[in-house]
Amino acid sequence: MTRTSTIYICQTCGAETRQYFGRCTSCGAWNSIVEEVIHTSKLRSINNKVPSSKRLETKGSQPISSITNEPIQRIFSGYKELDRVLGGGLVAGSLVLIGGDPGIGKSTLLLQSATEMARYKSVLYITAEESSNQVQLRWNRLGKEESSLHLFAETDLELILNEIENFNPAVAIIDSIQALQDNNLGGTPGSVTQVRECAAALQRLAKSRNISVILVGHVTKEGMLAGPKVLEHLVDTVLTFEGDRFASHRILRTVKNRFGATNELGVFEMQGKGLIEVLNPSELFLSSQNAPGVATIVACEGTRPIAIELQALINQTSYPSPRRTTTGIESNRLHQILAVIEKHLNLPLSRFDCYLAVAGGLEVEEPAADLGIAAAIISSYKKLELPKGTILIGEIGLGGQLRSVGQMQLRIREAERLGFNSAIVPKLSNKELSSKIDQPIKVREVSNIKEAFEIVLKLI
Ligand code: TYD
Ligand code: MG
Repeated sequence: MTRTSTIYICQTCGAETRQYFGRCTSCGAWNSIVEEVIHTSKLRSINNKVPSSKRLETKGSQPISSITNEPIQRIFSGYKELDRVLGGGLVAGSLVLIGGDPGIGKSTLLLQSATEMARYKSVLYITAEESSNQVQLRWNRLGKEESSLHLFAETDLELILNEIENFNPAVAIIDSIQALQDNNLGGTPGSVTQVRECAAALQRLAKSRNISVILVGHVTKEGMLAGPKVLEHLVDTVLTFEGDRFASHRILRTVKNRFGATNELGVFEMQGKGLIEVLNPSELFLSSQNAPGVATIVACEGTRPIAIELQALINQTSYPSPRRTTTGIESNRLHQILAVIEKHLNLPLSRFDCYLAVAGGLEVEEPAADLGIAAAIISSYKKLELPKGTILIGEIGLGGQLRSVGQMQLRIREAERLGFNSAIVPKLSNKELSSKIDQPIKVREVSNIKEAFEIVLKLI
């Protein structure tokens, strides 16, 4: 018998309650709780999929060393940048979630990649948001002509599962998970229950048939993947597609990956004929002009080093308390660096406004950027250009000391490739590393911020 019950689910954090609250008791969001009707018998049958006969068949546990490992099969997506964030290609039977703001280019990216994959694999593109005609128009815009790519415009979960089972593709793309609806459950498409159950059903099918499934997910106002963390736990890989509204480049980032490194980064550029991959992103983010307040660092995103330009503007303040504004860098980081400069280099920065930005709309989180940030600030304060062809890498401690950062060799090699001739870095910890770095680029090791700027001033 089907019984229905009502639960209240927070659409922000996914917490369930038996009662309505104006404010979620778990995450504190206002007006986020929505009533959802659940048919319990159906839910139980979904959750309890393993038939009892099968349960008896399992071999039970076994020693870890006796488990034979089959090599992971990877399907190449047709784009090196996409393969990179996936950890080397799409793993057969894996579930991938791609999140991003509306209009950022998720559908475009997947349609392009699906067409490439359809050259040698069977691919099913399920479009739940747009009609087949709309997708075909985009496809024509991308300049594609012949392809064995299959398109299926549907929102009903059951029909979609049937089609996947019948067609049995190697790759199925669902655009988007929030538009799917399981008619056995209550709630509107996109609600937490719907998203969670639809994704779970797709996951079961994917794993049992070894089909790779790519889910598109929208990002909520707060920048979270809707159907919140529930989905992130369920899938093997979570990618986010980000970009500056005013710039044409788009960044694909790995947030979670069971088959590769996280924080990996791929760069694309949106053009008139779709997304083009940018294989040399450092060149995209560097400008050839030097000016006071500009410093270059090499940040490491996952395993990829990228040269990035930092810009600072220091002005005498006319406000009671000086302004500090950052773009692409956490503001606490700036406050801390300003305090260190003020204390250890004796510059009266508390009487100056400070604006700091990462060029190209990128975000830099790692502390390795500290020395570059400090250099940009001092360069703007002193109205002096930093020496051309110099990169600065290092984390600054509160005592003004420079701490070493990871993947130094990778960063220095990237700087060298881009034609930089000098690098100011923290003391390299092991001798081996310093002996290896004896290429055309001159590496200068310093132990604190004062020493670093003495060297910089000498180089100018
Ligand atoms: P779309 O892929 O539909 O985004 P999402 O699926 O993430 O919502 O978005 C595409 C945007 O990119 C849209 O605003 C139009 C633009 N665009 C181009 O600039 N060039 C192109 O070749 C295509 C197909 C789209
Ligand atoms: Mg779309």
